[in-house]
Amino acid sequence: MPKILFCGKGGSGKSTLLSLLALHLSETRDVVVIDTDESNTGLARMMGLDPPGQTLMDFLGGKDSVRRKMGPRGAPGESRAFFPAAGVAGGSFPGVCESARGRIRLASVGKIEHAHEGCACPMGVLARDVLGNVPAGADRWVLVDTEAGIEHIGRGLLEGMNAVVVVVEPSHDAVALAGKIVKLAAGEGRRCLAVLNRVADGTESLLKEALARVGIETAATLANSQAVAKANLLARPLALEPFRKEIGKLAEALER
Ligand SMILES: Nc1ncnc2c1ncn2[C@@H]1O[C@H](COP(=O)(O)OP(=O)(O)OP(=O)(O)O)[C@@H](O)[C@H]1O
Ligand SMILES: [Mg+2]
Repeated sequence: MPKILFCGKGGSGKSTLLSLLALHLSETRDVVVIDTDESNTGLARMMGLDPPGQTLMDFLGGKDSVRRKMGPRGAPGESRAFFPAAGVAGGSFPGVCESARGRIRLASVGKIEHAHEGCACPMGVLARDVLGNVPAGADRWVLVDTEAGIEHIGRGLLEGMNAVVVVVEPSHDAVALAGKIVKLAAGEGRRCLAVLNRVADGTESLLKEALARVGIETAATLANSQAVAKANLLARPLALEPFRKEIGKLAEALER
């Protein structure tokens, strides 16, 4: 399952989970991380990477430039080619847009930089183009971080994906959103797995039951961890070790 979209409620732990999985997978294969979150900027640091020098959107001249290139054909489902075949489709990003450490490479689609900069359609179209074209395989997995909620699914980001990991914290809203995501993913023929995060005493079985009712298999469970909270606050890389077993279970479930 080499192309995986991380989804879920705001603050549920999508970026944290993606980073832990990237650290785990990169011990044995290449990992390409694509950040499609237009607001948050902390993903690279979670894996010990510097943020890339430029976003792909900025490299292409900014949102207005991409909007013009989209022209009237920028409708959902429209496939574009913003980068030449030798670029993203060949597996490389412009050097200034890429940050690397070990076998992890990261590129960011674009960030909101200005008040009144307009709708996010160009970001969605560019993300879909990059995700659809970046090559993946058993030796190169592509992990995609998303903004909270499901707007990106509405914009067609599932198109190029093999599977969806839904990160679920112990809350009714998180379960309800997971139910919605699994339906949308199933409608596109995509597999959906849940990871429970920040689970505290007594909530794990309740959460699993609730997710089973909405038709999602739970692949792994991460406890609430002070070490994770502290690393985030200090912008330090996450330590995989305490979560190795559960992240390994997630990787295995994705490989099935
Ligand atoms: N298992 C955990 N234990 C403790 N804190 C956690 C855990 N998982 C995530 N956090 C903390 O919760 C906060 C949100 O995590 P993260 O940024 O990964 O969520 P997100 O779903 O990507 O958020 P957003 O929707 O804003 O993108 C961070 O401060 C992170 O360190
Ligand atoms: Mg995030």
